Amino acid sequence: MTRTTAHHDPAKDRVNIGATCANLGGAGIGGSNKLENLFVTGGAGFIGSAFVRLVFEEMPHCEVVNFDALTYAGNLENLDGLDESRHHFVHGNICDRDAVLAALDEGTDAIVNFAAESHVDRSIHSAHEFINTNVLGTQVLLDAARERGVSRFLQVSTDEVMGSLTEDDEAFFTEDSPFQPNSPYAASKASAEQLVRAAHHTFGLDTLITRCGNNYGPRQFPEKFLPLMLANALNDEPIPVYGDGLNVRDWIYVEDHCRAVLTLLAQGRSGGTYNIGARNERRNIDVAHSVLDALGKPRSLIRSVKDRPGHDRRYAIDPRLIEHEFGWRPRETWESGLHKTIDWYRDNTGWLDRVRSGAYREYYSRQYGVEADAH
Ligand code: NAD
Ligand code: TYD
Repeated sequence: MTRTTAHHDPAKDRVNIGATCANLGGAGIGGSNKLENLFVTGGAGFIGSAFVRLVFEEMPHCEVVNFDALTYAGNLENLDGLDESRHHFVHGNICDRDAVLAALDEGTDAIVNFAAESHVDRSIHSAHEFINTNVLGTQVLLDAARERGVSRFLQVSTDEVMGSLTEDDEAFFTEDSPFQPNSPYAASKASAEQLVRAAHHTFGLDTLITRCGNNYGPRQFPEKFLPLMLANALNDEPIPVYGDGLNVRDWIYVEDHCRAVLTLLAQGRSGGTYNIGARNERRNIDVAHSVLDALGKPRSLIRSVKDRPGHDRRYAIDPRLIEHEFGWRPRETWESGLHKTIDWYRDNTGWLDRVRSGAYREYYSRQYGVEADAH
């Protein structure tokens, strides 16, 4: 397979809702959709909280209802400093129809669904919560969107729905790549996408699906590879690298992902699916080296550990559609994004210590067979 993307003429099928986006400048977000009242789910998590921050920076008139169940991955500290006159936090579960309807105002401009169980390793231990939140919860939101006359529905999905590429070819995931989810997490996200598609096709709901690669940046829960490495290395603890360390991921700085989501919310084609990627493929072992080198820690901290069952070999995103249609480009390089991320974790050791206590320690010893150090 070679690097090809079926491109259509975006000007022909772009939807024009007629109203104006609150801010046509600065971010280059522009667009024709009214975005003044957003209902963001999972906004106390890693990417959702970065998205709310970006919305408040870029769209001075936009208010956000932030609906989050505060699972182990949700953290109110992630929302510190947000403008409380525009930020309305609601503690609730997206599987709870009554709670969603109670929080969702009639005529809300858009639902942006970040809420999910998001960690592959946890889905291998137990898929139950992944099916509940990622599949059933998405359907609850789709139904509520119709009931409340919500204008747009954006489903934040993942490149993992498209399965795995081999490391030695030139293939990339395009918007037309087939579904081949390999983990329970990926399968649940693929199922959610199908429900979004069906809501568009059957009921004419104005939907969008975004598929992004591996995010990194501030406030990421340290079960994921990059913050886990940072947390361990900062404490001079070993860094577990699965298998041969040659699996490839396509990394993007979280704010670049969020800016792409915002751009698509404002301008994306109704019913469209868009890949989001920063053309930044890296092998895990090289990522580990980058982190240790940047921290001035020895590479001898790396430990090869048992591989993840069904471990996808390579993800690589072809982002040409969003680049060509909207001129979106990532602002951070790998080096600048990593620098910002490391600075944040260094400056926020209190945040890290708090999230690494309690249940995290149980998870760590189950996953890695050793205790996480107490700090
Ligand atoms: P995260 O695990 O950091 O945060 C998930 C948030 O959702 C938490 O605040 C949690 O409390 C909330 N949540 C979980 N279940 C809920 C429920 N039933 N009801 C309401 N809230 C609930 O995840 P993240 O890394 O920020 O990912 C956000 C979204 O982006 C997910 O949909 C994920 O699939 C997708 N995504 C993530 C990445 C990545 O690299 N992290 C890449 C592509 C796509
Ligand atoms: P992860 O951050 O879990 O994201 P995903 O599996 O969704 O891509 O893992 C990123 C890569 O790092 C993946 O190839 C698995 C690998 N990995 C390790 O090598 N060691 C670890 O401790 C973790 C959590 C992941």
